[in-house]
Amino acid sequence: MTRPLHVHPSILASDFTRLGAELQRIVSADAAHVDVMDNHFVPNLTIGLPVVEALQKVTPVPLDLHLMIEEVDQWGPRYAETGAHSVTFHVEASRDPRQLARDLRSAGSRAAMALKPGTPFADYADLLPELDMVLVMTVEPGFGGQSFMHDQLEVVREVRRAVGESGLDLAIQVDGGVDADTVVDAAAAGADVFVAGSAVFRGDDVAGAIADLRVGALRGARSQGDGEPGSGR
Ligand code: DX5
Ligand code: ZN
Repeated sequence: MTRPLHVHPSILASDFTRLGAELQRIVSADAAHVDVMDNHFVPNLTIGLPVVEALQKVTPVPLDLHLMIEEVDQWGPRYAETGAHSVTFHVEASRDPRQLARDLRSAGSRAAMALKPGTPFADYADLLPELDMVLVMTVEPGFGGQSFMHDQLEVVREVRRAVGESGLDLAIQVDGGVDADTVVDAAAAGADVFVAGSAVFRGDDVAGAIADLRVGALRGARSQGDGEPGSGR
């Protein structure tokens, strides 16, 4: 089996004074990853619904919304209604993740659940049929620029095994500390959607950084006899 491999730059690391222009720099990406933080679920505060709505009007790529917020059962569907490609909620924040996933899909979005480091996947494995993607955080959520937590690769492997056994078509995303080196390990462990903020935006050559991530992801996946250079959205 070959899986398409997707790169989603996180605009958290981009220039917030010119988000529309920053999105134009990542046209070669598969989607833009947008980190919504509410200063309650995580200590940081970023952007909310009005800014996401504005980004939807100008973005050249689909938006992958990562909601690090409380009250996500209430607010998640509102984000889906903006025309999001996918909406990711944290299972730690949702009171009824099954219903939330259904609400997101009804609103026209793909539904994804995110697991913080330390959150046991096994407790939520029964939700897989309701989902299009699982996000395994490879840092504690809240801030960009942190180091990749290699011990989270075991969780990626566990989710990959469960997805394989289920026969479902689910993507596995990693987010946090992903760069041209760590992407190789993440892909080898079974991830297929790679979020990278600092690694994409820290230099001048954004397109080159995206290409480097694709090369690394392909190398990791091929080491397991898997993967194809995706761009299918
Ligand atoms: C962290 C965010 C990440 C962040 C990744 O809570 O969810 O998406 O932007 O940034 P880097 O790639 O710099 O670790
Ligand atoms: Zn994120």
